[in-house]
Amino acid sequence: MPLDINTILAETRGKNFELFEEYVNPVFVKVLRIIGFNRSWIRGEGAYLWDENGTRYLDFLANWGVFTIGRRHPAIRAALQQMLDSDFPGWVGFDAPPLAAVLARELINRVPGNLDTVYFSNSGAEAVEAAIKFARATTGRPRTIHLSKAFHGLTMGALSLNGEASFRRGFEPLLPENSLVVPGDLEALEARLALGDVASFVFEPIQGKGVNILDDKYLLAAQDLCRKYNTLMICDEIQSGMGRSGRFLACQWIEGLQPDIICLAKALSGGYVPLGATITRREVYDRVYDSMDRAIVHASTYGMGNMAMAAGLATLSVLDDENLITRANELGARFRKGIEAMVPRFEFLKGVRQRGLMIGIEFGKPDSMSLKAAWAMVNKIDENLFAQAIVIPLLDDHHILTQVAGHGVPIVKILPPLNIDDADVEWFLKALEDVMVKLHKFPGPAWEVLMKIGNHALTAKKREGRTG
Ligand SMILES: Cc1ncc(COP(=O)(O)O)c(C=O)c1O
Repeated sequence: MPLDINTILAETRGKNFELFEEYVNPVFVKVLRIIGFNRSWIRGEGAYLWDENGTRYLDFLANWGVFTIGRRHPAIRAALQQMLDSDFPGWVGFDAPPLAAVLARELINRVPGNLDTVYFSNSGAEAVEAAIKFARATTGRPRTIHLSKAFHGLTMGALSLNGEASFRRGFEPLLPENSLVVPGDLEALEARLALGDVASFVFEPIQGKGVNILDDKYLLAAQDLCRKYNTLMICDEIQSGMGRSGRFLACQWIEGLQPDIICLAKALSGGYVPLGATITRREVYDRVYDSMDRAIVHASTYGMGNMAMAAGLATLSVLDDENLITRANELGARFRKGIEAMVPRFEFLKGVRQRGLMIGIEFGKPDSMSLKAAWAMVNKIDENLFAQAIVIPLLDDHHILTQVAGHGVPIVKILPPLNIDDADVEWFLKALEDVMVKLHKFPGPAWEVLMKIGNHALTAKKREGRTG
């Protein structure tokens, strides 16, 4: 009998966590259960997910920025269907796939500066790995400079550029030739560049961890320094790119910024097929692929797959046809206005970091005595706990998926699809207001739930001998 995926999905409905626990990742299932993300999703469309009870959720997590045009977009499905129905062969191996060239041309038309060549891969981390290698080959130097709080993926090279100790722990030693600098510290950057061994300086114009929008002047000065010391600038737009920030790339907010290499992934896939892109100059490519026997010296078996190329092309046309980049700016301004209007009313709410629909909502220490005590108590248990006081009720009470923006930062990030409607914005703002009202009552039920989760996590940590 031919395999029937629908039967498998029907048979596993509601049992997915047990199965996943047994065969894939039991620790992750534990986390999902503690924070109440153990729901069985059965349908996704646009900005929405439906669980097994038929309840509709607003997905502002969007798989950390993959679903920029929402789920199941008809244009992406049509392009993929056409590809499936076509006889056109992919992955011949020794071949020059035309869709790759067309997608490369489309990307080049949209990026700043004189970038004219694209390398395709299958994920963000792979796009970054290519960038690191290309910069080494071009400059003949070993070192990469990265920023604190940076996140560029979790393969060995990309992990070496991670600004967060918790990701690195257990996997060290990583690439020894890398140096961390703090955003804004130009002196440290120049001191490091002046040593003359730096191939590249890699940055996210808006850091995903914490939604930290890097200062324009800092990046322009860093560019001058990189040019002075012949170091390539790698701009990681894997989360901030593809229209999310209200420009095609977040670096395009900064006039005159022209990175040497740009990395894209996530939303470029249209939400169906993994896809990464490393966009650079012919001059860089010529140093990597510098002779016929090195014509495929950096490559991947699954690179440039027809499905991925079709999905990428369809995604770019959706961004244009639906005018989504302009929409990102309009909607982003509405979120900002709504959140900022709440700041004076709620002591825990401190502000908003926003460009387009890349939004971080900042929380912090309150002023009044009783709320201060609640803040201290929760942070003593776990510095990551307070953000869950927002994330959990948004999911439980209001059916909105969000997540904390990084380890130990009381910032909740939202990455809504760019094609949400006005009612979705209202849904979120009303929900946030309700969560805030309830959290400002201490003692109260919102805090009891949080303490229960905190204690549960603490007990689990103790059992595993991981306290402190
Ligand atoms: C800025 C940035 N760079 C790189 C990556 C890695 O991408 P992937 O998970 O596809 O390897 C991510 C993923 O979250 C990211 O946000």
